[in-house]
Amino acid sequence: MLSVAALLSLVAARVLAQDITIYTDTALAAGWEDWSWGSTINWDATDLYEGTSSVSVNSTAWSALSVYYEENWSNYGGLQFDIAGNAPDLTISLSSATDGTTSPNILLSTVSNFANITPDAFTTILIDFNNLPGLGSALGNATYDRITFQEDGNGGAYHIDNIILLQTLTIAPLFLSAEPLAANTIAVSTQGKVDFSTLSVSLNGKTVGIANTSAAYVPNGSPEKSITYLTLDTLFVPGTLLIDTGVANGGNQVFNFTLPKVQYVSVVQSDNYPISPAIYGLNFPSSQQLVSDLGIGTSRWGGNAVTAYNPNGQFTNAGNDWYFENRVASPPDADAWTEMVHAGGSLSLMVVPALDWVAKDATSYSYPESVYPGQAASDPYLPDAGNGQFPNGSWVTPDPIQTRAYTPWNTSMAQTWLKGLANKPDVVTVDNEIEIASNTHQDMHPIPIDFDEELARVVNTSRAAKAAIPGVKVAAPSTCSWWYYWTSMVGFTDNAAHNNMDFLPWFLQEMAAEEKTSGQRLLDYLDIHYYFQDDTSANDADALALRLRMTRSLWDTTYVDESWIGTPPQQNTEWDNTIVQLIPRFRTKLSISEWNSQGDTDVTGGLVVADALGIFGQQKLDMATYWPSGTVDESTPIGLAFWLYRGFDTYFGSSSAQVNLATPLPDTQGVYAGTEDGKLTLVIVNKNPDTPIAFEVDNMPFGTYFVRHFGGLAGLAQWETTIAVEAIDYIVVPAYTAVFFKEN
Ligand SMILES: *[C@@H]1O[C@H](CO)[C@@H](O)[C@H](O)[C@H]1NC(C)=O
Ligand SMILES: *[C@@H]1O[C@H](CO)[C@@H](O)[C@H](O)[C@H]1NC(C)=O
Ligand SMILES: *[C@@H]1O[C@H](CO)[C@@H](O)[C@H](O)[C@H]1NC(C)=O
Ligand SMILES: *[C@@H]1O[C@H](CO)[C@@H](O)[C@H](O)[C@H]1NC(C)=O
Ligand SMILES: *[C@@H]1O[C@H](CO)[C@@H](O)[C@H](O)[C@H]1NC(C)=O
Ligand SMILES: *[C@@H]1O[C@H](CO)[C@@H](O)[C@H](O)[C@H]1NC(C)=O
Ligand SMILES: *[C@@H]1O[C@H](CO)[C@@H](O)[C@H](O)[C@H]1NC(C)=O
Ligand SMILES: *[C@@H]1O[C@H](CO)[C@@H](O)[C@H](O)[C@H]1NC(C)=O
Repeated sequence: MLSVAALLSLVAARVLAQDITIYTDTALAAGWEDWSWGSTINWDATDLYEGTSSVSVNSTAWSALSVYYEENWSNYGGLQFDIAGNAPDLTISLSSATDGTTSPNILLSTVSNFANITPDAFTTILIDFNNLPGLGSALGNATYDRITFQEDGNGGAYHIDNIILLQTLTIAPLFLSAEPLAANTIAVSTQGKVDFSTLSVSLNGKTVGIANTSAAYVPNGSPEKSITYLTLDTLFVPGTLLIDTGVANGGNQVFNFTLPKVQYVSVVQSDNYPISPAIYGLNFPSSQQLVSDLGIGTSRWGGNAVTAYNPNGQFTNAGNDWYFENRVASPPDADAWTEMVHAGGSLSLMVVPALDWVAKDATSYSYPESVYPGQAASDPYLPDAGNGQFPNGSWVTPDPIQTRAYTPWNTSMAQTWLKGLANKPDVVTVDNEIEIASNTHQDMHPIPIDFDEELARVVNTSRAAKAAIPGVKVAAPSTCSWWYYWTSMVGFTDNAAHNNMDFLPWFLQEMAAEEKTSGQRLLDYLDIHYYFQDDTSANDADALALRLRMTRSLWDTTYVDESWIGTPPQQNTEWDNTIVQLIPRFRTKLSISEWNSQGDTDVTGGLVVADALGIFGQQKLDMATYWPSGTVDESTPIGLAFWLYRGFDTYFGSSSAQVNLATPLPDTQGVYAGTEDGKLTLVIVNKNPDTPIAFEVDNMPFGTYFVRHFGGLAGLAQWETTIAVEAIDYIVVPAYTAVFFKEN
């Protein structure tokens, strides 16, 4: 029997059988209060809006738009809002001001359509409380009364409109795509509760039976979408494949494919060599979870902003990237960061500052307008901090006094720092792109660095690092790009003064000589940065195709570069110098500690990375760390490429196996094989925007295979299933898709 008290509480429990509007126009809805901080908010903005007005928000670093409800809610289905901004770096959380409960942090960057957000128009965002973006978990049954949209350390401005708490999520049923995959599977991407009962498939005019339908799989980061696999009772053959959804789901859709003629490939598992797991690396992975989820092999602490890293105070200076201003480093603590990436299962690669200065505090800057009036540009948030240049592009004079922003640094201090680290890096590099320091860090080192100085800094820093950390590997000189592989900021007179040698060959020769004299190994990896020189910023069909072709420059000894590199006059004395053939060219223990796809938010970027990771293994590259130009997580294009090879403990084989293609078509496809304990893994990248490709794979053992893939016509999705391979001579890979097969 219920007690009187229990009865009373039942009566008091609120049943909110409705959505709760937080904001539509003009002002917060009744019952809501503004609990924001550090933000300039216009609740009735009319510069960009839906309805009659929107909320415009401008938050300083770490501050927030935050709203409090005088009542409370629990067990709601989701939060919906429309947002416009320049990739707003918001963290969304729910909390209870009454009992202190807080939800997990939801990063806006992990919602599936984050990449669609633009500054000029609203994008609708839906956060499913039963499948939180980036987390996959449910919010649970806590009671909440507050919602907060918090900025990161850079602050930022955006517009937001139509904010509403949805009691339940109802999503219109829709077939988004249906694509042929492998031998007889159709991957069907849907939203909402679709009805499969009216779907039919035909191949060359004959109806094909559906043997079974898998359970729906919900991709991480795309809670509104799910993937279902249909297994046909007939194997694919060349011809016309029609997938007709029938009359259900509010309309009939037909997906129509031309299955192409087969290509032949043979894989020889017995002909193999080890793949270095260090090639699956990333610069500054954001968390231990990410490192472990994506199987990141190497994590690098690097980039322009660590040249001035002062571990005594955790300050840095971004140099030319941001008005030569000091700030607190982000992340601040190199030691804790190394511990984090090790705990995630990755090697650590740490940049050791190797110029003569590091940031002295979190606030100074090198080119005050008050000292150097009339500079070309200054920080919009700190107008006194200039960019160090006159409008005509020349640097201000006189050269700045280094002590304005910096404190002295030298190799003994580097040695003391490294020795004192609780968590020792596995590999160190000698600073970052110091050959261009007279530009990127003009305030620290205005004089162009020549061959001799660069060599001396590498030798001295390597000695200090090896003395501090027995067994540490040294990677150098981390040269920024093709041009500086061969010459210095001083120019060709520098080459002339060094027997007319190009820089890197000269550097390797001198390092070898130094090692011979001193009897100590000082260079373990030749480290370079490699940025494709092609311009694909137009993002039109030609640019996307070029972006997907340019991976050939990593390996292909016949591929004439399509950038300025491929056109005369050449600036080096190397052989075949219109052909980059990057990895074969250097034929030494090689590390590429920065490289980038040119399309981080686009499926083509993910495909470039999937292709490149295959190439790195096949070409015996020793180490690589990707330099992201946006967020990398488990559901973004770049993250998905790493997931394909290494996600959630299912790895591409530890050795690279020989692949022989009857008709290699490297512009539009990549085929990579791995082997481990006699089991085959295969990655096929289809770079064609709208046509499937198909292979007969010789020597593909019969059995069941774990399959995962991303890309495809429904936009970016990650899908996983198991297929059976028996006497199969026709394996299909859909357009703009990378597929991974692993023999069970
Ligand atoms: C939710 O609101 C009800 C009614 O105002 C109140 O009695 C209850 O204490 C609130 N619960 C929490 C956890 O805030
Ligand atoms: C939350 O509440 C719903 C219905 O009120 C219930 O079915 C579910 O099991 C609860 N979940 C948890 C984690 O308590
Ligand atoms: C945000 O506020 C800062 C400081 O007031 C201002 O300089 C900046 O222009 C504002 N940004 C936008 C997009 O309104
Ligand atoms: C689905 O059908 C295929 C082809 O008949 C079969 O090989 C497979 O085992 C079936 N899968 C399930 C889960 O029943
Ligand atoms: C499918 O595409 C083929 C080739 O483009 C075309 O001939 C055929 O009419 C299409 N079928 C349907 C049902 O759309
Ligand atoms: C650029 O402008 C500055 C300031 O007006 C001037 O002193 C300098 O000579 C100019 N440099 C060149 C290359 O014109
Ligand atoms: C580095 O600076 C410290 C402090 O000035 C000095 O004691 C030390 O000798 C210097 N080391 C080198 C290698 O110059
Ligand atoms: C490197 O070390 C040598 C020997 O200690 C020293 O003479 C030289 O100045 C150092 N060079 C640089 C660029 O720090």
